[in-house]
Amino acid sequence: VSERTLVLVKPDGVRRGVVGDVISRLERKGLAVVAMELRTLSRETAEDHYAEHRERPFFGELVDFITGGPLVALVAEGPRAIEAFRALAGATDPVKAAPGTIRGDHALEIGENVVHGSDSPESAAREIKLFFPELG
Ligand code: CMP
Repeated sequence: VSERTLVLVKPDGVRRGVVGDVISRLERKGLAVVAMELRTLSRETAEDHYAEHRERPFFGELVDFITGGPLVALVAEGPRAIEAFRALAGATDPVKAAPGTIRGDHALEIGENVVHGSDSPESAAREIKLFFPELG
């Protein structure tokens, strides 16, 4: 049984040139890339994507950051893809993320943590629809 998850290589990851590393790690794990695009988000799309964080004190900063340069959005597919990618990404706080994970190897600050991965089947469905409406 296959599942899909939305992955973002955030603007810090693109700037630092780790797009290839992120794709390589998820492919090595056995996940397949089924859609992918380099794009700069509008504030509207960013606010939609992060709607659940709207009341957080860091929301403005989060939207500024995620719209601050091009990012790579992709859909990864495979058995338990959501959980599998979150394990590859490591903890949200990169200092707590285990070495060997994407964040553990590439990031130091919670606001600039290189990647995003959907956290549940419901958010995956919502986020995939937002980024790749044509996937259905
Ligand atoms: P992400 O998985 O993209 O989902 C929400 C994001 O909010 C999270 O990754 C972090 O990058 C960001 N975030 C969480 N906590 C903070 C914080 N205290 N300050 C700034 N950004 C944060």
